[in-house]
Amino acid sequence: METPRLEIRRISRAFSGRNVVDDVSLKVMPGQVTCLLGPSGCGKSTTLRIIAGVEMQDRGEIYVDGNLVCDTIYRVPPEGRSIGLMFQDFALFPHLTVAKNVAFGLTGTRDENMARVEELLARVGLGHFAQSYPHELSGGEQQRIALGRALAPRPSIMLMDEPFSGLDNRLRDDIRDETLAVLKDEGTAVLLVTHEPDEAMRMADEIALMRDGRIVQQGAPYNLYNSPFDLEAAKFFSDINVIRGEVQGALCDTPFGQFLAPGKPNGTVLNIAIRPQHLRIDFDRAGRGPNPTTVDGSPARGIVTRARFMGRESLVEFKMDYDDSILSATVPSVFLPKEGTPLWLMIRRDRCFVFNA
Ligand SMILES: Nc1ncnc2c1ncn2[C@@H]1O[C@H](COP(=O)(O)OP(=O)(O)OP(=O)(O)O)[C@@H](O)[C@H]1O
Ligand SMILES: [Mg+2]
Repeated sequence: METPRLEIRRISRAFSGRNVVDDVSLKVMPGQVTCLLGPSGCGKSTTLRIIAGVEMQDRGEIYVDGNLVCDTIYRVPPEGRSIGLMFQDFALFPHLTVAKNVAFGLTGTRDENMARVEELLARVGLGHFAQSYPHELSGGEQQRIALGRALAPRPSIMLMDEPFSGLDNRLRDDIRDETLAVLKDEGTAVLLVTHEPDEAMRMADEIALMRDGRIVQQGAPYNLYNSPFDLEAAKFFSDINVIRGEVQGALCDTPFGQFLAPGKPNGTVLNIAIRPQHLRIDFDRAGRGPNPTTVDGSPARGIVTRARFMGRESLVEFKMDYDDSILSATVPSVFLPKEGTPLWLMIRRDRCFVFNA
């Protein structure tokens, strides 16, 4: 098997008795992007700072290309780890030209350095700004210079902590994609921290979902989205509807009919979660809904409380007859039923996630 470019094993760090990073293990392969994704305060930046060597772990080891760079006794200093850093406040040196900013960490001869700077500025599309000063550039351009500066010494690993959060939406998508292209081109292994699932899905080959200092699930974006580890993991990626039911004889009765619950003991309470785009909406036929099917189960009636056009889709909210709870559905077109309209909802059995409550 290929040696990971970066591997951390069982890293922990406590601040005043609280485990902020708790037994975290991770691998990043060469040329791959791994995203450390999780809510604010879950320990993402601390993990990154430990890998960079600016924070010490209490336990655990860090390996680069299979070589130990840091445990609790042995410690390669930050500048010896072949790790590049790019943080949210990527502050360029204001008194240096763009070219000198990019050349800052380089140790080669003058000619080598100039060639490398030229190469990188061309790659980030800013060759013509070499002699400009940072304040003469837009936010997005400065971001690309910072990327060039971080990449100049050819780090084999790049650690990025919410590097795109200072940019406005439209620009951010472009810069993300460009950045990714440059990093892939250079074969750099990337560990990117973000609290935005969309950003992680867009950038990552692999996502490590972090919560309260621990990694709760790790895998390809597709797997995290489609097989979330628990209800909270499912919720982290999108809005989600939850219905409850209790198991009797390996079946779970709900207002939407029965769900299979193989292997679950009687009396287990289940949360059945379904994303808004997977609810099926059908019309009311004089107080009756569509016929039950094996794929969709039984329909339950709700009254439209709100319908909004969102551009790519319409969002419709329902107050359900069975217990007045609110469910939301999205429809990929213009669908704006009037408030008060009765409609029937069905749940596709192959689209829902079933968790113990
Ligand atoms: N040097 C420190 N001393 C004490 N507590 C700290 C220190 N550094 C971080 N913490 C605490 O550790 C927790 C995790 O912080 P961290 O910065 O790693 O979170 P994060 O996941 O990066 O969050 P965010 O998305 O908001 O940046 C926070 O509760 C923070 O207050
Ligand atoms: Mg942080």
